[in-house]
Amino acid sequence: MRKVIQKVLNILAKKSIEKEFPEAVQDVRDYAKKSGTTGTQWITLWMSVRKIKKYKPAWILESGTGSSTLVLAATVAHLRKIHPNYDGKIISMESMEEWYESAIKNLPEKYNDIVEIVYGPREKYEMSMFRGYIHSNIPQKDYSFILIDGPAFQDEQGISFCADLFKIMEFTKSNVIHGVSDGRASSVWVIQQIYGKKFVRYWHSVFAASFSLPKINAMEATLNTPKHFQTMPNGSLEFIKFRKNKISDN
Ligand SMILES: C[S@@+](CC[C@H](N)C(=O)[O-])C[C@H]1O[C@@H](n2cnc3c(N)ncnc32)[C@H](O)[C@@H]1O
Repeated sequence: MRKVIQKVLNILAKKSIEKEFPEAVQDVRDYAKKSGTTGTQWITLWMSVRKIKKYKPAWILESGTGSSTLVLAATVAHLRKIHPNYDGKIISMESMEEWYESAIKNLPEKYNDIVEIVYGPREKYEMSMFRGYIHSNIPQKDYSFILIDGPAFQDEQGISFCADLFKIMEFTKSNVIHGVSDGRASSVWVIQQIYGKKFVRYWHSVFAASFSLPKINAMEATLNTPKHFQTMPNGSLEFIKFRKNKISDN
């Protein structure tokens, strides 16, 4: 049943994108043929298009380059056309040299002014009780949107999570990060542990999650268990330090 719902939602999402950006859907087809990319779900792409149109981020970080880059770029190009003051840019990070070379070769020239593809081999990222992987070499920009679709988060110790979202919180001046995660349940689980479920939901039939998160420093040296954890009447423990954060800006 889950797979049927997911398939239908993907068809609807693709139709919605095709209606808005017919050229982008053709570009994705061409790109997939040339690069052999695993691609991103249409559901995830549609969630991203909607968020980008709503919040008009000046800097977008894409974690995991590929056909998705073309849909993000088409959205930014559209916004630039209708809002002359908007000058959105995309930094697209790729952790594997082979896929980086392929992406550089296959990115349509019309997006050269919007997208910069950066090679950043994955590196470990430790954050409070969590361990994950980030792309190295992320240019320090004021990101306010992220599409999480990389890097690989499995290693000899098992699964970790994709941590670029928290890496960019170290330097972006934006107080809120909007974003979407394609699959990557462990990454969404970490977000839920820190912010609570109200900030991000992961539906089984969607295999994706959309969020808007106030910037935090999850590595604060003052964090401690008596003060920042709460015991619930049913005996469960919740890490509550960042649960009360509100979205106050952009
Ligand atoms: C899910 S893929 C990213 C897909 C990308 N967002 C897209 O829409 O095409 C995650 C990572 O897998 C790697 N990758 C890309 N294409 C691949 C392929 N055909 N086979 C294996 N790994 C691939 C790359 O490192 C990529 O960043």
